[in-house]
Amino acid sequence: MAITVIVNGGEYALDVEPDMPLLWALRETLGLTGTKFGCGISACGACTVLLDGRAVRSCTLPISAADGKRVTTIEGLAQDGALHKVQQAWVTHQVPQCGYCQSGMIMAVVGLLAQIPNPTDDEIDAGLTNICRCGTFARMRAAIHEAAESKGAAS
Ligand code: FES
Ligand code: FES
Repeated sequence: MAITVIVNGGEYALDVEPDMPLLWALRETLGLTGTKFGCGISACGACTVLLDGRAVRSCTLPISAADGKRVTTIEGLAQDGALHKVQQAWVTHQVPQCGYCQSGMIMAVVGLLAQIPNPTDDEIDAGLTNICRCGTFARMRAAIHEAAESKGAAS
């Protein structure tokens, strides 16, 4: 069954089973390995991407649910060589430690800021449920506030 997805601005017709997880299609079929596999049960958020601008966990989302929709992965955030403002804030605050959770974190934060442009600490805690076993949450919170206040071109 051909499924059409628009990934990072490019349109792809994928000949895959409709129940293939979106994460598998991204990593194995399209070779976009920036999105990570953590738990496989929608618990950790390492696999977070945007689907029509909303953060989703791609390990449990069948590719059929993305048919005709726009998917944005970590590879698609920077535009014209300029980091997205969330990526830039991550660099400024040196957020990552091991880094494994971080592409999912960044995508979840981009999704959160699309819903709540200037979140409070409580809104960050409630809206960002991804897991970081390195415990980078304090630096992430500071970076999120900076990104929220940034007037950078990429939003
Ligand atoms: S790998 Fe998808 S939520 Fe953990
Ligand atoms: S930076 Fe290591 S799990 Fe988050």
